[in-house]
Amino acid sequence: MASTRYRESPFLSGHHQPNRMEVQAPDLFIEGELPADLAGVFYRNGAEPLYPPTEEDYHWFDGDGMVYAFFFEEGRVSMRNRWVRTDKLLLEMKAGRRLFGVHGNPVTTDPAAAGTRYNTANTNIILHGGKLLALMEGAPPVELDPRSLDTIGEEHYGGVITTTFSAHPTVDHGTGELLNIGSLARRSGPEIRYDIIDFDGHVRRTEFIPVPHQSMMHTFFVTEHYVVFPVTPLDISVQRAVAGGPMVAWDANRPTRLGLMPRRGTAADVRWFEAAPRHMMHQANVWEEDGRIIADVAAAEGTALFPDTDGTRRTHRQTQQSLRRWTIDPAAATDVVREEILNDRDIQFPRPDDRRMTRASRYAFANSNLHSVDGRVDGMDSVVRVDTDTGVDDIYHFGPGAAAGELIFAPRVGGVDELDGYAVTLVHRPGAAETELAVFDARDLSAGPLARVLIPFRIPSGFHCNYYSVDNPLYQQALGER
Ligand SMILES: [Fe+2]
Repeated sequence: MASTRYRESPFLSGHHQPNRMEVQAPDLFIEGELPADLAGVFYRNGAEPLYPPTEEDYHWFDGDGMVYAFFFEEGRVSMRNRWVRTDKLLLEMKAGRRLFGVHGNPVTTDPAAAGTRYNTANTNIILHGGKLLALMEGAPPVELDPRSLDTIGEEHYGGVITTTFSAHPTVDHGTGELLNIGSLARRSGPEIRYDIIDFDGHVRRTEFIPVPHQSMMHTFFVTEHYVVFPVTPLDISVQRAVAGGPMVAWDANRPTRLGLMPRRGTAADVRWFEAAPRHMMHQANVWEEDGRIIADVAAAEGTALFPDTDGTRRTHRQTQQSLRRWTIDPAAATDVVREEILNDRDIQFPRPDDRRMTRASRYAFANSNLHSVDGRVDGMDSVVRVDTDTGVDDIYHFGPGAAAGELIFAPRVGGVDELDGYAVTLVHRPGAAETELAVFDARDLSAGPLARVLIPFRIPSGFHCNYYSVDNPLYQQALGER
């Protein structure tokens, strides 16, 4: 049976519509002045399903990982994109059709896929341990060649990590360590596995931490001395699914619980703090200040990504996220987390200068929505930088209907200070033939892009991006001269 068009879905049409192709562009046209001290690589991962699901609703998180790489070298920008050839995708390519159910649902998965892991590797793309790793929540990383993007295979850390992995592990740029979690549904109850992986990619420590209930723990926090495990009301329940309800659901009757543990602690050291029910999948940065833990996060009172426990669906508009500060005080007598709103704009993916993750930072970059009715569906039409000390923002609007991706701080070669560099995002303007990789002065977004790298086709909106400057040890370890 020949493939036909995608089924109806807001995440398979408009700026989300996949292209189903891999390309290589050796020297892209650039408008404006590309800064000479911007040299490195910008990676982006996202969901581009080769085959559409046949029976179920598509979900934004379900498509096959497609990685784009932009190399900034000697004033030129080259680009290529490749699917992550997971065992799942290779099996479906051989069959010429979709075999797995949405999210790997075993009930709707073709028996021909039995024994193959559902791994889309579609969420994040990082350098660590000298390797380029495509990440999704719930399956091991998949290693790609950092230059060609050819798939090398699942990374199992010498057989130590063979099951779940986070899409948002934290690199501590001070120590070079990668701190990671994986969710585990055990017969004895839900747990997470917590790993410390050293700069060279060796697992140095693994702890198992029981959690209050099985939640979609999309991220977790790391500071210089602590880790925090956020258990949000986004609940996962096989029993509820068996009873005919949603497997993943927003349970507004549950609080948000934050488990604080010393970085080299054990389950016995965990202290649970409590906040109001919050949807939270991404933090800008988390650090320690005067003995307290400061977490700047994108959070909302609910989510449109999954139904409520009773099956009700909220809209993204009703559940837009703002930049909030959570403060945990280990010295306090109560276990209450303090929350304040730092900036109330509708934001999606907040990011700091990555080199400051785990240590104090002042600025958060994000893609945001000024005028779209529903930014997740219609497109995030702007980018913003927030001064978290004052709440003052610096915003640039790409125009009605534009779709901007995650905004990444890209340090100037040799730059050390927090705003000494650029901010980079992929943006598609409605009706435009091309996509732009927009390069801003990190200190002045509202002035508009300094340079626009033109990609001569529409790149579908995706998930997470990372930029590695040529002087970043992670770049040198993976891409430097050998
Ligand atoms: Fe994410």
